[in-house]
Amino acid sequence: MKSVIDILDLSKEEVQELLDSAMDMIAHPAQYRKVLEGKKLATLFYEPSTRTRLSFEAAMLELGGTVISMADANSSSAAKGETVIDTARVVSNYADIIAMRHFKEGAALAAASKGWIPVINAGDGGHCHPTQTTADLLTIYREKGHFDGLTVGFVGDLKYGRTVHSLINALSRYENIRLVLISPKELALPQYMIDNTIRPAGMEYVETTSLEDSIPQLDIIYMTRIQKERFDDQDEYERLKDSYVLDAAKMQSAKADCIVMHPLPRVNEIAVDVDDDPRACYFKQVLNGKYMRRAMILKLMRDAEEHPDTKELGIATRLKRMPDEQAKRCKCGNPKCITFTEPSTPNIFVTEDGTNYRCAYCETALK
Ligand code: CP
Repeated sequence: MKSVIDILDLSKEEVQELLDSAMDMIAHPAQYRKVLEGKKLATLFYEPSTRTRLSFEAAMLELGGTVISMADANSSSAAKGETVIDTARVVSNYADIIAMRHFKEGAALAAASKGWIPVINAGDGGHCHPTQTTADLLTIYREKGHFDGLTVGFVGDLKYGRTVHSLINALSRYENIRLVLISPKELALPQYMIDNTIRPAGMEYVETTSLEDSIPQLDIIYMTRIQKERFDDQDEYERLKDSYVLDAAKMQSAKADCIVMHPLPRVNEIAVDVDDDPRACYFKQVLNGKYMRRAMILKLMRDAEEHPDTKELGIATRLKRMPDEQAKRCKCGNPKCITFTEPSTPNIFVTEDGTNYRCAYCETALK
């Protein structure tokens, strides 16, 4: 049984399998209308969502399954203090697969660690958003036809932008990708992304504050919202919120075959005068997200049937784990990590090199 907490929990071949599966579902929708008859998806959303929750639900219904939903944490026992782990254990009795969004980093891994049905991370704080990444990948695949050799500009909140982190992780497995990281200095990409992903993959990257200077070289302009809800200091949000606005005037210097992407929702970072530009692909991403969530649900349900007794927990099983006795004596220092607010969540620290450990939930380096 496999859960998807991070896009890297899927091999490059599995990502291609999902892309092929989604394309087949687009071509032959009738063949998939009953494939998950009798199966239930639980959507557990502790944070607002339009696209992710509704597209998961639409995807499951289109596969012949049914849905139970917790769309508002305040109307669930989370409001009484029930932990994510306990909630996942409870819901494992009612459903066959969970899609979870939570404001704490690592919440989906916590849910997967003790539940006994697959968990899909539908966004965990500022950490990851792997299913948005699959939507992004299908959009690139359909619009550009390939991944290798692209110059991708990520614009806006690269610090808390979980869709950015997940897409960079996904692109790190393709050849000759060049990243242009465009952000205010305060919202630069976290160092762990550079140390754990970009440098080991040998990706070329530049960091800059200028959108205008960068536009002409980009094959993809990936805009993001400056996320009010991620800031501890609201004055800083007010200062940074209008850092970048892409409009029709700026698009004049973009390549003719450049595409504009955005995970949405947008606030004002893409002016509406870009919407009718044929290079604007952000509403296509929305539909592609539903296709890829269909493909992912189907893959994980089939995998759970074929391998009911094994449990793959993403980073926690991919990397070498600190022995439990030692891990109990350590603490993650990231206040946005699920282990901070729910200290009963078992500590899990992982390493690639045997010495530098990081928290498996939020990937913060252990000091
Ligand atoms: N892109 C995305 O995650 O949108 P929602 O927050 O509406 O789900």
